[in-house]
Amino acid sequence: MIQTRAQQDDLPHTLSVSNVVGGAASAAGPVFERRNPANRDDIVTLAPQSTREQVFAACEAARSAAAAWARVPAPERGRLLGRLAQLLVEEKERLARFVAREVGKPLREARGSVQEAIDTAEFFQSEGRRLYGQTVPSELPNKELFTYRRPIGVVGLITAGNFPIAVPSWKIVPALLTGNVIVWKPSDDAPGTAALFFELLRRAGVPSGVVNIVHGGGAGGAGELMIEAVDAGLIDKISFTGSTAVGRKIGEVCGRRLQVPSLELGGKNPLVVLADADLELAVEGAIWASYGTAGQRCTSAGNIIVDRRVLPAFRERFVRRAGSLKIGNPLDEQNDYGPFINQRFLERWIEQRATGLSDGATLLLDGKRIAAADAAPGFTGDAARGFYATPRLFENVTIDMRVAQEECFGPTVNLIEIDGLDEAIRVANGTPYGLSSAIYTRDAHAMLRFKEEIRAGMTSINNSTTGAEAHLPFGGNGWSGNGTRESGIWVLDAYTRWQAVNVDLSGKLQKAQIDLVDPEAGATAALGAALAAIP
Ligand code: UN1
Repeated sequence: MIQTRAQQDDLPHTLSVSNVVGGAASAAGPVFERRNPANRDDIVTLAPQSTREQVFAACEAARSAAAAWARVPAPERGRLLGRLAQLLVEEKERLARFVAREVGKPLREARGSVQEAIDTAEFFQSEGRRLYGQTVPSELPNKELFTYRRPIGVVGLITAGNFPIAVPSWKIVPALLTGNVIVWKPSDDAPGTAALFFELLRRAGVPSGVVNIVHGGGAGGAGELMIEAVDAGLIDKISFTGSTAVGRKIGEVCGRRLQVPSLELGGKNPLVVLADADLELAVEGAIWASYGTAGQRCTSAGNIIVDRRVLPAFRERFVRRAGSLKIGNPLDEQNDYGPFINQRFLERWIEQRATGLSDGATLLLDGKRIAAADAAPGFTGDAARGFYATPRLFENVTIDMRVAQEECFGPTVNLIEIDGLDEAIRVANGTPYGLSSAIYTRDAHAMLRFKEEIRAGMTSINNSTTGAEAHLPFGGNGWSGNGTRESGIWVLDAYTRWQAVNVDLSGKLQKAQIDLVDPEAGATAALGAALAAIP
């Protein structure tokens, strides 16, 4: 944990972070390194590999803080989030630079991802003054009905490294606003960013024990231990952003405990280009959707589905534009994308080449890892020390191929030829995922049909598959999640349970469904009494 602002302004080159359990930096143990993916010699952060005892202790610490935090009036919790928003604004540049160094996100995008957390905190600041329940009329006289949102309790948050402030904020901010306490397992790709974010939460006034952090990745790591904590009854709700495979396992355990987790999982997002599309716009959107963030967003485009009438023109422009992308050091402002976040993503991307070729797809752009010797012109990174690659583009792809079905984080996308809107929609719906989607067309009827028929949680018309705004529901269908949504008012359902309350002031036992119906008259007793009272 970083203690003071003065220390923060003068961050050591390698940040040593601890778990945070009950407001205190927790006991030392084995440590893992997080290295800069743009320069493997640069150790950005050292963080603890948590033990079971530490993870369970964090859950207990959260539980001890739960009742007091739930009693803080919601407008006050909102005020705290307003202070968080201000601190994020003040620290935006420094956080963005740290994110760029720790996960390799280009600086412009890193700033945008901090902005997404600011937007989220600003949104929920005033939600503290709403958090509406309802007053509901009763079927019986002298009886009142109300609904209240109640916090769930100890929520366990497990987040990914590609948006190491934005996505945690989507969970932490509404969970706090609604009165829950938190155990957060940040990505092992971004432990330092998590520590900086926690420091802002602390400065905003989050009391000890309300947000706890446990670090550690991999098999037997803090994420798995948190799922054990669910089974042990120590965590009441999990919110997870990551792969479909891990999401399934989490869902199984939570189901056993009769919990509803929030699962934000993978995508193989379709981007459709119809024959009447503005091709310049479509190419620009498709390039950004495919290669922005080096393809490492769950909303990145996986399949570009193009009408055969414009495929040659689209293909030619797309290839030309892809060839002009600037790759390299994330801190260089002009770069379009930086490195892979980690070696695992790079290796999976390398394997994907063989998968595509064995499927029968052909390579229009044979993206390769950038090696020191043959670095592309204009490349500004350190090829020997960074995980960089040039863009890959498969063509002659059909939707049944593995390469068109399986998510792959990295600069890679497929071109699929179709004939008309019907086939476009069928192919766009042809994967088990359903996260984001996009269509480029000028035809209002095609827009309407696509919106209605695409099986995706998010749909863009004449815009990229990426770039969801922070106050719209974020989430997907099919293998992309379990139907829960993040962001905006919709996420409130993920962190609260409805309580229905009735208050009977009649002074006698009134039986709902039984005492009110007068079967003879076909009217309620209450109505009969009201009619009788009319002079
Ligand atoms: C993610 O990749 O998990 O919609 C989140 C977008 C961003 C968030 C992506 N606002 O692309």
